[in-house]
Amino acid sequence: MRLVFLGAPGAGKGTQAKRLEAEKGWTVVATGDLLRAAIAQNTPLGQQAQAYIQRGELVPDPLVNQIVAERIATLESFILDGYPRNLTQAEMLESILTQPLDAVIYFEISEDALIERLGGRRVCPQCNAVYHITANPSKAGDQCEHCGATLVTREDDQPDTIRKRFQVYREQTAPLIDYYRQRGLLRTVNADASPEEVYQRLLSVL
Ligand code: AP5
Repeated sequence: MRLVFLGAPGAGKGTQAKRLEAEKGWTVVATGDLLRAAIAQNTPLGQQAQAYIQRGELVPDPLVNQIVAERIATLESFILDGYPRNLTQAEMLESILTQPLDAVIYFEISEDALIERLGGRRVCPQCNAVYHITANPSKAGDQCEHCGATLVTREDDQPDTIRKRFQVYREQTAPLIDYYRQRGLLRTVNADASPEEVYQRLLSVL
């Protein structure tokens, strides 16, 4: 299965992608996670990406295209979470795929609901597990229930940066909804429900 997960910041793409990976074995390729790992390791990619992420802007296409091309080259099944993010990246993806995409899942939800989700998000800096202080708290309190690391708030989950990310999403990423609809690949999931309910909706469109 070759899937793209599309949706605004905080729509639940990462939460659902990780569950689908755990249950179906399809590898998640999450560009945000890969970029944050590169920043944590202070690699040349991380050094170039950091300022863009802090400002809530997209990291330049050539950097992101390269990491995705390397990651999916050997994968039969994958879930692309957070890529493509604009038309240039969508065209790049089309050119590197050896087999076509099966579907593009669009997680649809209003921005108002997302402010609450992003404000309460806590993430594990070690294994990338994602929690929410009320909707999905860690069973280990301030620690990750999987690996024990101390949970943190993402640097770009600050109000000003969240606003910028929404703007970037509206201007650059949302046009991909029509792009993939025209290609007959779009499957829409109403993402304004509990994580379990959204997962069941996701399974039903797959
Ligand atoms: P990225 O990491 O991709 O961030 P994003 O797209 O903004 O998406 P998020 O991770 O914020 O949200 P999500 O939809 O995964 O939601 P989640 O499951 O975590 O990108 C970050 C930055 O990296 C970008 O701004 C850019 O700079 C750069 N970048 C990444 N990809 C790039 C690319 N292709 N090109 C260029 N630059 C790129 O859920 C959010 C919260 O809600 C969590 O707390 C969760 O527990 C909770 N939650 C989830 N589902 C539910 C539910 N159903 N009900 C209640 N709470 C829920």
